[in-house]
Amino acid sequence: MATDGQKVVLITGCSSGIGLRLAVLLARDTQRRFYVIATMRDLRKKAKLEEEAGVTLHETLVIRQLDVCCDESVTECLNGLQDRKIDVLVNNAGMGQIGPLESLSMQDMQKVFDTNFFGVVRMIKAVLPDMKRRKSGHIVVMSSVMGLQGIVFNDVYSASKFAIEGFCESLAVQLLKFNVNVSLIEPGPVNTEFEMKLMEEVAKSEFPGADADTVRYFKDVYLPASHEIFVTLGQSPDTVAKEVIKVIAMRKPVFRYLTNSLYTPLVAMKYADESGNLSVRSFYNLLFNYGTIFHLSMNLLKCITCNCFRRRTVTPS
Ligand SMILES: NC(=O)c1ccc[n+]([C@@H]2O[C@H](COP(=O)([O-])OP(=O)(O)OC[C@H]3O[C@@H](n4cnc5c(N)ncnc54)[C@H](OP(=O)(O)O)[C@@H]3O)[C@@H](O)[C@H]2O)c1
Ligand SMILES: *[C@@H]1O[C@H](CO)[C@@H](O)[C@H](O)[C@H]1NC(C)=O
Ligand SMILES: *[C@@H]1O[C@H](CO)[C@@H](O)[C@H](O)[C@H]1NC(C)=O
Repeated sequence: MATDGQKVVLITGCSSGIGLRLAVLLARDTQRRFYVIATMRDLRKKAKLEEEAGVTLHETLVIRQLDVCCDESVTECLNGLQDRKIDVLVNNAGMGQIGPLESLSMQDMQKVFDTNFFGVVRMIKAVLPDMKRRKSGHIVVMSSVMGLQGIVFNDVYSASKFAIEGFCESLAVQLLKFNVNVSLIEPGPVNTEFEMKLMEEVAKSEFPGADADTVRYFKDVYLPASHEIFVTLGQSPDTVAKEVIKVIAMRKPVFRYLTNSLYTPLVAMKYADESGNLSVRSFYNLLFNYGTIFHLSMNLLKCITCNCFRRRTVTPS
């Protein structure tokens, strides 16, 4: 049970990756500022979290079942909480999807929206009445840099993150009146099981409906480049979790947090030319024309990030 002065933090998608590490690091906070309700849709996967939570289990961390795609599961989980009280809701659960559009089924695309968009909407809708009544709350949403800039072969994933960004931008204004704050976290690549899950899907697919050229661009150009980006620029889940903890602990949180400063130029490019020509052409050139320049710049970034730059950009906490 949470004690007075502890912030109750409910996190979705704690079976792996960022959610798991965030739950563990919050629960281990030496000042015991947080009481963590770590949720996952399938409790058969709870062993890893239990192990990493260690002595904090049942002290500052409890594990509950919650599927963001299921009304009953959300209702049951919230009704099981003391006074239904949540100070901070972290919407972390999400899934990726990559590949040529022609080879993806409408059903699989809808699943991405059901999880990344409607899953978050369902959670927020469920906690809002209590937060508004208490005139207190913080809603944190795990978006992505792909919620600011569409990235080739991630069409539907990007769209789902754009959708949640628009939703939150709209809602944040109304909620401010009730002293409920909304914050978006926008990580670049993070080295979790996320990429591996995508690669497993790709390995299974024969890309039905996609022409040979598109499949070739996807497999021989996009996939190696994407992998290189994860290896070169990828952050650890702990780094992202620590950023989220800083945001949760803030007295005056703002709306947007990019966790990887190497992605700021990408956002700057978008706003520097509102016609979109600059972004669209730059990404086109990066992918199709300048393969060698891509490798060169990746190597350059690798150099920079191994040395002082990384130490300066990732603020320790
Ligand atoms: N990794 C990256 O490069 C990256 C970059 C930017 C943003 N993000 C975002 O960060 C968040 C966490 O991703 P991650 O990198 O930690 O990947 P991950 O290790 O694959 O974790 C995703 C988590 O979401 C859970 N989940 C999926 N569908 C769910 C549902 N219907 N109900 C409840 N939980 C569900 C998964 O549970 P199961 O184990 O049951 O599937 C898993 O625990 C996602 O929103 C993702 O879009 C990731
Ligand atoms: C929300 O942010 C405002 C200022 O930005 C702050 O005064 C308020 O205390 C915050 N509310 C909560 C519940 O954190
Ligand atoms: C868009 O970019 C291309 C390539 O950089 C350039 O040739 C074209 O003139 C630009 N169009 C506009 C309207 O700026």
